[in-house]
Amino acid sequence: MKNNWLIKGARVLDPANNFDAVRDLFIKSGTIADIGEEFSHDNVPVIDAHGLVLAPGFVDLHCHLREPGFEYKETIATGTRAAVRGGFTTVCSMANTDPVVDTPATVEFILEQARAAAAARVYPLAAVTQGFGGTQLVEMAMLAEAGAVAFSDDGMPVADARIMRHALEYSLLVDKPIVNHCEDPALAQGGVMNEGLTSLRLGLRGMPAEAEETMVARDALLARRTGAHIHIAHVSTQGGVEIIRGAKQAGIRITAEVTPHHLTLSDALVAGRRQAGAGSSLAYDTHAKVKPPLRTQADIDALIEGLNDGTLDAIATDHAPHSTTDKLCEYSEAESGISCLETAFSQVHQLVQDGRVPLQTLVSKLTTEPARVFGLPRGTLAVGAAADITLLDLEAAWDVDPEKFASKGKNTPIAGWTLPGRVAMTFVDGKLVHTADGYEQRGAQ
Ligand code: DOR
Repeated sequence: MKNNWLIKGARVLDPANNFDAVRDLFIKSGTIADIGEEFSHDNVPVIDAHGLVLAPGFVDLHCHLREPGFEYKETIATGTRAAVRGGFTTVCSMANTDPVVDTPATVEFILEQARAAAAARVYPLAAVTQGFGGTQLVEMAMLAEAGAVAFSDDGMPVADARIMRHALEYSLLVDKPIVNHCEDPALAQGGVMNEGLTSLRLGLRGMPAEAEETMVARDALLARRTGAHIHIAHVSTQGGVEIIRGAKQAGIRITAEVTPHHLTLSDALVAGRRQAGAGSSLAYDTHAKVKPPLRTQADIDALIEGLNDGTLDAIATDHAPHSTTDKLCEYSEAESGISCLETAFSQVHQLVQDGRVPLQTLVSKLTTEPARVFGLPRGTLAVGAAADITLLDLEAAWDVDPEKFASKGKNTPIAGWTLPGRVAMTFVDGKLVHTADGYEQRGAQ
């Protein structure tokens, strides 16, 4: 029978139901039918999951699938394949495509392509302003009806405070969040990395933390004024965390996400590595160029604290695939972004290994919490829920080889790094959509 499985002996970790114990899990016709001790069912394929963690499939609030318009960087088929390899069963796609997602037809196109790809589920975001022009709001009600789950001009900020105020007001009618890429254009102008000691040393123009912080503060105040839900994309600064913490304490409807790279990598990576055989010449690493920029260790520490104390609701990848030529150029000319759907879990699992984030917290920030932020019916192992499941081998380590990515984007600053913890298998709707090399023998016994 289709999409029936018996997964045996995994450590079942379901933050939505506060559950953490070794159990068997029975998938029937694509839904979670039962969780218990020592099941057996005739004629159901068995997966030996002893030693593995079984978590709800990960939910990514923020990724760039590039289709329509930038298929040379990524397609919905390659991006969703990368997603399931990274343990993500649900991804929310950003609207900075070409055309941008500002009509119901484009939302429908994305949903259609996602259905055809049959890997991860895709929930599209639509733009806040028409054509990302920053002046005219989109037709939110029509876009929400077509399937948009939130609104964002991500890649660019909504710079005009009056437009943001109106966007928040209109979002109340559709009860969907506005997601903002907080970067004051005037303060960030010309910046290509974090402004600080490293930018000074490298002679590159920096973007100050205040470019993010002032807009986070503005958005929090506008959310207070309107009563609407603002979601802050990819928080990267200590000040941003502090403002969001204060806003939450004041009862403002604000949520926030943080990326694996901002949680684990600092601006020191921009300096790159000395080129072999190239004397003393240094090549700045365009793969470390991202918006917002990688920051300092003090920012990383504040982000981790914010994750642990609930200020930051979710880990979101901001998977931003680019072509080789987009990155193989002078640092200041290179595109910003990191391809990270396939490395995300292992990167943040390092924080668990280092004793900085509890495993339960990490899993909730990848599952239950993001689902709650966008109101998606995902991120749970409740009986009766769709069997979106990720099996993790926390004992395994692997070497990052971008050439092996399913994503077309090979742009990562951590190529060659050894990361702890692997996504072993991924199920969407009870369908086994990914098995990592070396785990085949555990399946279909
Ligand atoms: O580095 C980034 N790349 N940050 C963004 O916000 C957009 C993204 C992209 O679309 O490439």
